[in-house]
Amino acid sequence: MKNLLKLLDCSKDEIVSILDLADQLKYEKKHHIAHRILEGKSLGMIFQKPSTRTRISFEAGMYQLGGQAMFLTHRDMQIGRGEPIQDTARVMSRYLDGMVVRTYDQQEVETLAGYGSIPVINGLTNFAHPCQVLADLMTIREHFAQLEGLKMGFVGDGFNMCNSLIVGCLKAGMEVSVATPVGYEPHPDVLAFAEQMRAEGAKFELSNDVHKAADNADVLITDAWTAMGQEEQAEQRRKDFAGFTVDHDLLACCKEGVMVQHCMPAYRGEEISAEVLEEHAEEIFEESENRLHAQKAVLVTLMSEKYEILG
Ligand code: CP
Repeated sequence: MKNLLKLLDCSKDEIVSILDLADQLKYEKKHHIAHRILEGKSLGMIFQKPSTRTRISFEAGMYQLGGQAMFLTHRDMQIGRGEPIQDTARVMSRYLDGMVVRTYDQQEVETLAGYGSIPVINGLTNFAHPCQVLADLMTIREHFAQLEGLKMGFVGDGFNMCNSLIVGCLKAGMEVSVATPVGYEPHPDVLAFAEQMRAEGAKFELSNDVHKAADNADVLITDAWTAMGQEEQAEQRRKDFAGFTVDHDLLACCKEGVMVQHCMPAYRGEEISAEVLEEHAEEIFEESENRLHAQKAVLVTLMSEKYEILG
């Protein structure tokens, strides 16, 4: 594995190996076992959108691994004044050992990876959020001690989180049922992948019916109705997503003991009720914590020459 641009590029074995390493790094951190695997390495982090979890967990993660993280914005770099991505990629590759990029267009991270010679990690684009979904899979596996055979229901916008959840959960052997409002369906490339998986025996369904997605689900996931950069659509989206709130009524359709996940930030009263969020806060904040461990596993996988997974 050279980059983490989207989960469509990763094999099941690569995903499982990152989850195993993430579990190990989490154990070592909890037991104060130092793991300065990336001593002397530098990570550049180019962010064109705001971030709490991604930025802080990558910066803290690099520090815990013995390396250094540099937070950079388009505003402060020549890229913001029109320097081509192709040149930026080649320059950064001369200074750094890895890059995290948060931007709008997936093609931007693909171009950086194509022209650079260091690993590129997608810290969120409009198409994908692979780091978040690795943390989600880690959290679900911790909770149920397995992934295969579980049903993941997603209710909301077929945007980056939905795209990556479909790919990650299907690759992990889970059943996937997605409900979006009409016009908010997942990306065609993701649907083509899901169709191919279904032809090979996987369980996948897409509908506009939240009850179908929630029916007998082991884990129910949602995301904000209005993503970064879509703020001017917020009012229209509140109308279009009416009935798509994860609340007690919807949870009643799920399996008893259903797990709820939300990548956050959460908008209480919109995609999730305040009551459901607080009742499932332990699961949701564990998911936030696992960003740190899962991303450290990604950094070690992509940036260390050699690291041995114990056991
Ligand atoms: N879930 C997520 O990516 O959070 P941030 O936008 O705060 O990084």
